Amino acid sequence: MIIDIHSHILPAYDDGAIDEEITRKMLHQAFEGGTREMVSTSHVLSNADYDRQPEIFEKFEIVKKIASNEGLDMKFHLASEIYMHPDTVVDQKVSTFDNNKKYMLVEFSLRTIPEFAPEILFNWVMVGYRPILAHPERNLKIYGAPVYAYKFAQMGVLLQLNGGSLFGIYGDRAKSLAHELMDHEMIHFIASDGHDVDSRPIYLGDVYEYVSEHWGEARAVKLMEINPKKAIQAEEIEIQEPIPFEEKLKRPNKIRDLLQKIRMK
Ligand SMILES: [Fe+2]
Repeated sequence: MIIDIHSHILPAYDDGAIDEEITRKMLHQAFEGGTREMVSTSHVLSNADYDRQPEIFEKFEIVKKIASNEGLDMKFHLASEIYMHPDTVVDQKVSTFDNNKKYMLVEFSLRTIPEFAPEILFNWVMVGYRPILAHPERNLKIYGAPVYAYKFAQMGVLLQLNGGSLFGIYGDRAKSLAHELMDHEMIHFIASDGHDVDSRPIYLGDVYEYVSEHWGEARAVKLMEINPKKAIQAEEIEIQEPIPFEEKLKRPNKIRDLLQKIRMK
C-alpha cells in the first residue's frame, strides 16, 4: 500500500486538477498505482492564501465524494505545500498534516536556498515541528552542492523526493541528484507531487517498483508507506544518519555560516 504525501488533487483550486473530471481521473490513476491514502497539499504561496481555507475544506469534501462515488477505497488527509517566506506562519488548520501541529510540507525557490530558510526551518524544528522539504532534487543550489541537503537533514528537516525525478521528468539534473540523494540515504519520503494524469502524473506504481529494484523493497516500503503513515499520525520518524557527501561547500557565504552556527548550538 502506498501513501502519497504530496498531491494537487483539489478540483480547480491551484495548478493541479483543473476540474472534477481531472480529479476523478487522477484518483483512478493513483489507485491503479497502488496508492490507498493521499495527502492533499495544495499550494499556500503566502499567508493571505490561508483566507481560502473554507474553499479548501469544501473541495476536499468533493474529492472524498468523488472517490466514494467511483468505488475507490481510499483515505484522504489534508495539508498544504507551503512556500516559505521570512514571515510564513504554520499555525493554521491546513498547515500541518490533518492539523497534527507537527508535520508539514514546505518548499522554497527552485533556483536557490533563500538566506532566511535555514534559520526558519531550524526554529520550527526547535519548537516541535517536523518540516518536510518538498523535492530538494529539483533545487539548483542543492544540485551544485548536495552537501546542503545533508545539512538540512542533520538539522532535522525531512526530505521528500518526487518519484518522477528518478525517471527524469524534471530533467537530467534533477534525475542525477535524485539518485545521488537516494544512494546517500538522505530521502525520507517519496511522493508523486501529482498535478494531473499526463505531465506530472500521480501514478506511483512504477516508482515503487524502481525503488524496490534499485534500493530494495524495504526502502520502498519505508519511504512510501511507513514514514508517510508516521507523519500523518504525528509519530517520530526514525532518521538514520545520512551517508555524508565528500565534497566541500563550494564557497563561503551567509547560508554556510548560518548552518555552521546552528550546528554549534
Ligand atoms: Fe507540489
